[in-house]
Amino acid sequence: MTAINHTASIVALDRPLEVREAGRSEPGPNQIMVRNFAVAVNPVDWVIQTAGAFMYRWIKKPFVLGSDVAGEVVAVGAGVSRFSVGDRVLGLAVGAEKDVNDPRQGAFQEYTVLAEALASRIPDGMTFEAAAVLPLGLSTAACGLFQKGQLALRHPGSALPGSGETVVVWGGSTSVGSNAIQLAVAAGYRVVTTASPRNFDYVRRLGASEVFDYASDSAVADVTAAVAGGRLAGTLAIGTGSARPCVDIAHAAGGSRRVALASPAVSFAALADSRRKSVEIPRLLWRLMSSTTSLMIRARVRGIQARFIWGSSLKDDEVGDLIFRDFLPGALEDGSFLPSPPPRVVGRGLRNVQLALDTQRAGVSAEKIVVQL
Ligand SMILES: NC(=O)c1ccc[n+]([C@@H]2O[C@H](COP(=O)([O-])OP(=O)(O)OC[C@H]3O[C@@H](n4cnc5c(N)ncnc54)[C@H](OP(=O)(O)O)[C@@H]3O)[C@@H](O)[C@H]2O)c1
Repeated sequence: MTAINHTASIVALDRPLEVREAGRSEPGPNQIMVRNFAVAVNPVDWVIQTAGAFMYRWIKKPFVLGSDVAGEVVAVGAGVSRFSVGDRVLGLAVGAEKDVNDPRQGAFQEYTVLAEALASRIPDGMTFEAAAVLPLGLSTAACGLFQKGQLALRHPGSALPGSGETVVVWGGSTSVGSNAIQLAVAAGYRVVTTASPRNFDYVRRLGASEVFDYASDSAVADVTAAVAGGRLAGTLAIGTGSARPCVDIAHAAGGSRRVALASPAVSFAALADSRRKSVEIPRLLWRLMSSTTSLMIRARVRGIQARFIWGSSLKDDEVGDLIFRDFLPGALEDGSFLPSPPPRVVGRGLRNVQLALDTQRAGVSAEKIVVQL
């Protein structure tokens, strides 16, 4: 087996990723090494690339970003019991996490080291491109729905059918939302969600009972009315601008007073095109701080607990095993959980990862941007 690896590395702020040759080491205890055949991109990847100076300060460039991989196991470390060489897997790559800080564990390369606990076998009939859409979107949804400090919902498999409890997922057609709808339904909840009208059928196919246009003036009233009659079990806010309507829904609907927040209060997308970053970044930070402060005051005054999710934090608690070991492999195998949103492959090879980041940043709708390797 050759020890050569290639990476699509971030080399400097605002510079395109560079394809580089890199060494390859063996996986450590409770780790596996995967030959990646498909990787997907997430907003955080281009946010780090365009605004990284104040985010993920611990990352020393060159570094390998990326969270979503699907491929084949080529080596297993000591203590690994769930996987063997040759298994087809998907996994959450956590190399950019502060307490990991290891480019070998980033997604945008040919070979990635994964924690065994953050990988799942994929069924024979499922493509790597389809499987790669899952890891971070699914993990973020699971953290929001199931972590004890977030919505603390019942787990999939412990469902009480017809319990009449409703989960609100604001932003159901996002990657995080597509997973959240399915997880909440698998746990026995009725789901009320929001999306653009073009995606109403899409979120219904994932299991949502009712869907409303988040851009409508009546969205908060519509969602609140759809919850009435049952008990609100929790509210998951996804998308820039989602926090405030979700706090208002949790206040008006009664029931659970918890709102899990996936998105920062302001969008970073415009930053990439800015030529005056030294002015724009402090301005954006100021808007971020002031919007977050006013949101937290609004929530507190209404008696609502609103907390931000950290989508990789399931690596440190029971939600990681719940998802990657206990739930996902079986649910993919029996077809009850659909890898969503569907992949849009923008190219093959590491040189196309930058195109994938640019495509994601330009805006997607109910699709996940994927690169074949
Ligand atoms: N906290 C974490 O750890 C974590 C992890 C992953 C993602 N996130 C955040 O979660 C959000 C979603 O990420 P993603 O990768 O799932 O997004 P994505 O798939 O790239 O989001 C695209 C979708 O956003 C929807 N959308 C746009 N504006 C919206 C709004 N105001 N309200 C609700 N939906 C809206 C669009 O829906 P339509 O096409 O139907 O209009 C589109 O389908 C982002 O803000 C991302 O930064 C956070």
